[in-house]
Order: sequence, then structure tokens, then C-alpha cells
Amino acid sequence: MRAELADWDTAPNLLDGAMNLELTAEDCGIRSWLAAVPQGTLRGRLDGHDPALTVPAHMRAPGPLRDALAREYAFRSVAEDKAARALAYLVAAAPTVATMEFYATQVLDEARHAMVFRNHVLALGFDEITALVADDVAAVLDPLAEFSVPVMREDFIGGVVTIAIILEGALAPTAELAERKWRPLDPAAAEIDRGAGIDEIRHLTVGAAIAKRHLEAHPEDRDRVASLIRDGMRLWTTLPVHEVVHRREVLFQQGLERHADLVGDYEVWPGRCLVDTTPEERQAMAEEWSREMRESRLAYIGLAEAAS
Ligand SMILES: [Fe+2]
Ligand SMILES: [Fe+2]
Repeated sequence: MRAELADWDTAPNLLDGAMNLELTAEDCGIRSWLAAVPQGTLRGRLDGHDPALTVPAHMRAPGPLRDALAREYAFRSVAEDKAARALAYLVAAAPTVATMEFYATQVLDEARHAMVFRNHVLALGFDEITALVADDVAAVLDPLAEFSVPVMREDFIGGVVTIAIILEGALAPTAELAERKWRPLDPAAAEIDRGAGIDEIRHLTVGAAIAKRHLEAHPEDRDRVASLIRDGMRLWTTLPVHEVVHRREVLFQQGLERHADLVGDYEVWPGRCLVDTTPEERQAMAEEWSREMRESRLAYIGLAEAAS
């Protein structure tokens, strides 16, 4: 893997990288991961952020801003934990050395993401994370796991597609929004998201490349994988994801209004000041990115028809 793709200062943002780069499992084995991640992205950032960035007092003070970040990061920590465990099945079932090595690195990446999100919630002043989001986990993550884990355990290529298209592809744009919206309020949190986003580019592009190559070699699997994707998409529509994210965005809004002075004229995306945005607008943007991401990934693997 080219060093600049994982370098803190030169790596593309998550959406650009995941939609425009092409990386294969052969590009992202253990050796290249050691150079790119422990000795690259993570150099000096073992907790996911520059240690000089401590949590500011306004983020530790009880209130909607702290609650918004704590709920968001606790939820994502649990999601990363579940992903790390389920991905271990892909290590076990990987058909080649290259795919085994790649998924071994992804297991470690996700376990590390679970750690840095969890530790940041603790740094905000909470004792533990599970009670904060038990209801959201039960409503969203448990049903996703019930769908995904059996697939990942029993069907390697189905599992590859499940994690890269159905789970990470749908969640990645929320991470992009998080990095952008927390940047002026909690720079350490924004760095945690930036680092996780750099890893995510690898997960999404390599997962898609493995699926593309497999489906080209085994066209007889196309119908099965397409119907798996449709089932996964249908499941998303039955889950209260919009409501869960909306509750967090409303808390964020209350905190944003209280701390507008810290945010100033910071732009959340080009031409749009964060302080002028609403929960609905931010959420609609993340959902739009999510749709674009899924469509670009499906087109790349040659299953555009599964998008509808
Ligand atoms: Fe992750
Ligand atoms: Fe990931």
C-alpha cells in the first residue's frame, strides 16, 4: 500500500478514499499494515489522537454536548467490538494467505477502534459505556448482528459483502459527519474519527475488491450475493436507525447552540457553517453520503442491480 494513503497528513478523507481508490488484499497484508498503521497512522497517536489534545472542560461538563458525544461513541464502540468478533470468522475461513492476512489486520483495527471510542467516553467522565446505549444497541446492533454473524460464520464471500457493503458501507458516512462536526468542539474526538476513517478506507476498498474478484470468477454466486444484499438493505429499513441518530443530533444541536462561540464560522462542509445547520440537515447529508457510498461500492463489484 502506498504510504501516503495511511499518512495522517496526506490520506484522503473517508468518502473520497472509499469511493475512488482501488486496493486489494495483496496490497494490504500484514507487512504493509505494520508499516502503514503502527508505524504510520498511529505513530504518536496510540489513543487515536495526539496526546497533547486533552478533553476540553466544556466536553466534560454534564449536559447535552457531553451526552451527544458519549451516546455516539459508546454506540460506535459497541458496534466496533461486535465487528471485530464477527470478522474473526473471515480470518478462519479466508481462502488465501492474502485474504487471511488482510482480515487479521481488520480484526485488530476494529478491536482498536472499539478501544479508542470507549476510552474517549471514559475520558468524558463516564465509568462505563454499556448502560449509556443499551437501548440503542438492542434496537439496532443486536438485530444487525443476528443477521450478519451467521452469514460471516458460514459463507466467506457472503460475509465479505455483509461487512463491507451492508454494515461498514452504511455506517461510514456517519463517521465522516462525526469527524466534521466534532472538530471545533472536541479536536481529540475528531482525530479519533480521522484515524478510524483512514482505516475504513482500507476495509471498504479491499472488501469490495475481494467481492468483485470472487464474483468475476464465480458468476454462479451473483444471485445469492445480490439477494443477501437486498435482505440486508431491507433489514436496515426496519430498524430505528434514523430515530437513534436523530436523538443524538438533537442533543448535539442543544450543545452547539450553547457553545456557538467556540464554533464560530467553522464550515462543516464547503460553504456551510456548522452553527447554521440543523439536526435534519446534517442527518440528511450523512444519509445521502451513505446512499452514494453503497451505490458506488455495488457498481464497483458489478452488482449495481442490487442497489434497488
Ligand atoms: Fe472500525
Ligand atoms: Fe472497519
